[in-house]
Amino acid sequence: MVEAALSLRPLSPVLGAEVEGVDLRADLPKTTVRTIREAWLRYGVLLFRRQDPEPSQLVAFTRRFGEPVVYTRSENARTDHPEVLMLSNARAAGRPIGAAISSRYWHTDGHFLECPPAGTLLYGKQVPPEGGDTWFAHMAAAYQRLPGSLRGEIDGRAFLMDRVQTLPYHYPGRKIPGPGQKLLWPDMPQPLVRTHPETGAQALYIGGLVPWRIVGMDRERSDALMARLHAVAFDQKFCWRHRWQPGDLLMWDNRTLAHRATAYDMERYTRTMYRTTIAGDRPFYSADGSRAALAS
Ligand code: SIN
Repeated sequence: MVEAALSLRPLSPVLGAEVEGVDLRADLPKTTVRTIREAWLRYGVLLFRRQDPEPSQLVAFTRRFGEPVVYTRSENARTDHPEVLMLSNARAAGRPIGAAISSRYWHTDGHFLECPPAGTLLYGKQVPPEGGDTWFAHMAAAYQRLPGSLRGEIDGRAFLMDRVQTLPYHYPGRKIPGPGQKLLWPDMPQPLVRTHPETGAQALYIGGLVPWRIVGMDRERSDALMARLHAVAFDQKFCWRHRWQPGDLLMWDNRTLAHRATAYDMERYTRTMYRTTIAGDRPFYSADGSRAALAS
C-alpha cells in the first residue's frame, strides 16, 4: 500500500482543485481516499495529472468512491470493462470505438434518470492540441448568488426533465427523436433545487436552456424563470474551463456541478477519453438539508 504525499492546489476562485502526489494505479490507503473524497465534496471537480490507468485500474479507482455503473449508452461501453464508456472520434476495423461527440450544451450526467450518477471520472487518453475542452459550472455557488426572493420562488419546486426534447440540443446534427422515444425515456420529475445528500448544500439542478416545464407554472412563467436561473448559473465569470493534456483525469460531483465540452477539429485530431460513473441516489430537496448525511 502506498501512502501518498498528497497536496491540493485550487484551480479557480469558485471550483476545482488539482491533486498532486497521487498515482491512481496504486493501492491507495483509506486515509488518502478519505482526503480525496473530502476534496471532491469541497471543490466539486478534482484534476489528477500524468496518470496512465488501464481500464481495470480506472474501474478499481472509481470503486473507491462508490459503485461503478454501466451507463446508458452501452453501445459505447468497452466489452472488457462495460463500466468504462468510450468517448472517441477514432475508428478501429472500420467502426467507431466510442461516442464521437460529447455534448456542448450545459448538462449534468444522467439528469433524465431516476437515480443519476453521483460522480463522473473522465480520463484523457489522447487529446487534441486545441479545442475539446471541458467547462464546469458550480451549481451550489450559483444558488448562493441568487437573490433571496428568487430562491423563495424555486425552493421545493420540481420540473419535468424531458430527455427526448433535450437530445437535439445536445446533438444538433442527429435525427430528431420520434414519439417512440418517449416510451423509452419518459419525463422525469426533478427538483429545481437539489440538496446534496452528503453535505446538505443546496444547488440549482438545471442544464442548458431547454424549455423544460416547471411543475405548476404556465409555459410563459416557466420559460422566463428558467432563463433567469440559466443566466446566473452559467455566467462565464464563475465557470472554469479545463484545457486537457494527455494523462489528465478529472473526477467531478454531478450533485454540485454542470459541465459541457467544446468543439475541436475532428478531421485533424483524435480525442479519446475513458469515462466511468459512480452510482447515485434519487435527487431530493430538503429545506434545512436535514435529509443529508452531513459531512463533518
Ligand atoms: C461528458 O459530457 O460527460 C464528457 C465531457 C467531455 O467529453 O469533455
